[in-house]
Amino acid sequence: MKNGPVRSKENFLVFGSPAIEEDDIAEVVDSIRSGWLGTGPKVARFEEAFRAYKRADHAVAVNSCTAALHLSMLASGVGPGDEVITTPMTFCASVNAIIHAGATPVLADIDARTMNIDPAAVEAKITPKTRAILPVHFGGRPCEMDALSDIAKRHGLTVVEDCAHAIETEYHGKPSGSFGDFGCFSFYVTKNVITGEGGMVTARREADAARIKILALHGMSKDAWKRFSDAGYVHYQVTEPGFKYNMMDIQAAIGIHQLERVERYWKRREALWRRYNEAFAALPVQTPADPDPRTRHGYHLYTLLIDEACAGIDRDGFLNAIQAQNIGAGVHYLSIPEHDYYRRRFGWNPDDYPNAKRVGRCTVSIPFSPKLTDADAADVIEAVTRIVS
Ligand SMILES: Cc1ncc(COP(=O)(O)O)c(C=O)c1O
Repeated sequence: MKNGPVRSKENFLVFGSPAIEEDDIAEVVDSIRSGWLGTGPKVARFEEAFRAYKRADHAVAVNSCTAALHLSMLASGVGPGDEVITTPMTFCASVNAIIHAGATPVLADIDARTMNIDPAAVEAKITPKTRAILPVHFGGRPCEMDALSDIAKRHGLTVVEDCAHAIETEYHGKPSGSFGDFGCFSFYVTKNVITGEGGMVTARREADAARIKILALHGMSKDAWKRFSDAGYVHYQVTEPGFKYNMMDIQAAIGIHQLERVERYWKRREALWRRYNEAFAALPVQTPADPDPRTRHGYHLYTLLIDEACAGIDRDGFLNAIQAQNIGAGVHYLSIPEHDYYRRRFGWNPDDYPNAKRVGRCTVSIPFSPKLTDADAADVIEAVTRIVS
């Protein structure tokens, strides 16, 4: 390896650093100056803009995708005694949401190439207790929704799509989040549209959207947030014990303008994807599978699989080496059964999910934010090339 890192320490390239622009800042300042910080008109504006972008029937803003998943489980009627099938290649929140609803998560292995849940593995895990499927559009690549929707229909299952990576994603002309009964989105700082922390549920049925809205604010009756408005005091009733999952106007203020730029940012990441593919084609690493032409990839993550036998360095060695080049990287994800807690509680063994196990042990996500300049991308390419050449 050449002497000296690709970038200086002062210029460390932070993984997932968000693109924030002046109109985001001005809108937040406007919220603060107005004094209306909590759930209010900007949340309503953001919900409507997001609903229109996703061509959804209903959209309800919440304070995280984790909250979105939890409430979707509850609104689906999933509870104790039920099983929900999901993927071992996901963030812990997908699995925790099932557990928080009182149900039992069941894992179905991924397709090694797409890293998405394999419909045949789902079918094999169905029991009389199965109540729902929770597919995750990993990295922004849509799951095989025709096959999954067919399984759900044949077995009478609810589908809750985890779209945390998949705002722009489409499958056979239909937007992610529109296949299932619920779509759950994340606006966490590293995501494609950000609000700091934040999430959204899209729902097909008005009654489901209304229940989620109520559950997200303590279970208080409709529009309880209006109780402090100038229209006079509005009494509310608690209809069921809900949660404190509402989004604030300060968060929505950022999201409104982020969403206006969603396509520009997507195009930037698409260009980065092509540039990375070209640069890494001859290196001894595995680049992501090409998107299926009948789909739209959300381009949320760019992952490299680092197999020691080919690359001459193992994944954790690669992580240390890229960090030493002053470039940040991520791991999405260690497979779910690698976590002790789940292993103890559910008796899972990583070997039973060989594709997820291999990906989880080899994968590295390299910087892929729309904020990256061409010079930043050149540094990432130079660092990766130095490490594995
Ligand atoms: C696949 C997936 N699901 C759910 C979540 C949870 O999102 P949030 O942080 O908005 O709760 C994440 C966040 O990283 C995720 O990557």
